[in-house]
Amino acid sequence: MWTKETKVVILTGAGISAESGIRTFRASDGLWEEHRIEDVATPMGWERNPQLVWDFYQERRRQLFEVGPNPGHVALTKLEEYLDEMLLVTQNVDNLHDRAGSKNLIHIHGELEKLRCEECDYVGIMMEDHDLTSSFVSCPECSNAVMRPHIVWFHEMPMRMSEIEKALNQCDVFIAIGTSGHVYPAAGFLASAKQQGSHCIGINLDPPLNFDLFDEFHQGKAGEILPELVHQWINTEQP
Ligand code: APR
Repeated sequence: MWTKETKVVILTGAGISAESGIRTFRASDGLWEEHRIEDVATPMGWERNPQLVWDFYQERRRQLFEVGPNPGHVALTKLEEYLDEMLLVTQNVDNLHDRAGSKNLIHIHGELEKLRCEECDYVGIMMEDHDLTSSFVSCPECSNAVMRPHIVWFHEMPMRMSEIEKALNQCDVFIAIGTSGHVYPAAGFLASAKQQGSHCIGINLDPPLNFDLFDEFHQGKAGEILPELVHQWINTEQP
């Protein structure tokens, strides 16, 4: 199954960043860092209380300086170096895949590092000290509008879906790592890949919702399991 020509699509979720010290979403209390998801991760929450939402994301943005990629992120860069064609789709808004060195990477739910202007659609990495305070930031392009987090909130459209669908339709292997399978459309990628004949591999601490669809499931921590699996995949090339 594993050669350089094997076409691979990988979906990662919060679980791959857990060992770097970033909390996953679906903790047993149902809250995200002590907040209700409706309050901090919806366009309605932003309209109702922009300061609360701004402060929430500013804290997440500042946290990026305190965390770093773990062996799970690094293993995926090694796999990408080996393969001719690999697409990594992450639901994570942190920058740990980027910092590990992943290249063909889609942040389907946006990126904490970036801010976006709702007036002129300018998007940019804004991580200087003055971009990270409790004060709102003005758009560097049209200057009269306030920037919002470049995050896909609930009820908004995930990014670059047509590119992802194209890759899913052609992939030989699909791997889902550290995702609970609760949030669509990402949770549906497994079924799409399976339907068109891909070999589907799951790596997760607990069996996710769509567990039954995997051809192969490895239960445990991504940072421990992935380096070993990637080593095996790279070294078991068929003649
Ligand atoms: N290694 C592998 N899996 C892990 C690890 C680990 N070290 N730690 C936790 N997990 C697993 C959990 O068992 C859980 O199944 O990762 C999964 C994380 O699930 P969620 O917290 O639901 O995260 P995710 O699936 O990424 O959420 C999807 O929902 O809130 C929205 O937009 C947000 O992108 C997010 C989306």
